[in-house]
Amino acid sequence: MAIRKIREIGDPVLGKVCKEVKEITPRTRELIRDMLDTMYEASGVGLAAPQVGVLKRIVVIDVTGEDPIVLINPKILETGGEQTGNEGCLSVPGKSGTVTRPAYVKVAAYNEDMELFELEGTELLARAICHEADHLEGHLYVEKVEGRLRDVNEDWEEEE
Ligand code: NI
Repeated sequence: MAIRKIREIGDPVLGKVCKEVKEITPRTRELIRDMLDTMYEASGVGLAAPQVGVLKRIVVIDVTGEDPIVLINPKILETGGEQTGNEGCLSVPGKSGTVTRPAYVKVAAYNEDMELFELEGTELLARAICHEADHLEGHLYVEKVEGRLRDVNEDWEEEE
């Protein structure tokens, strides 16, 4: 188990477009394991490779705490509906904000054996897929926040 340092907002690596993964090497597998460890250690629901300083198109997501998903070279194929809700990011510690995302997302990606698969998500999973896909393009959710960025201990409902 290896916990990597999570890069924070202001770090230029978070603004870069990530490169496609062409093959899975032992280093790639180690990176994915470390990303999962780092995400769980930080109690996050998703983490993208640039958040640990690696400009590769890899994300890990787990919205239940027992269902790790690895998406390599993810491509969003389809979206539907809208959901508006609270969002945060391990690279923006202590903050959260209101973001509107699709209510439904269908994504194609490769797994750790470079096999192509499709995944559908709604609610938090749809939100996480979009949030993590944005990281791979060098975007943070703070660019999409409606209103202002809040401290996490504020009750966001009261501001509506
Ligand atoms: Ni994030």
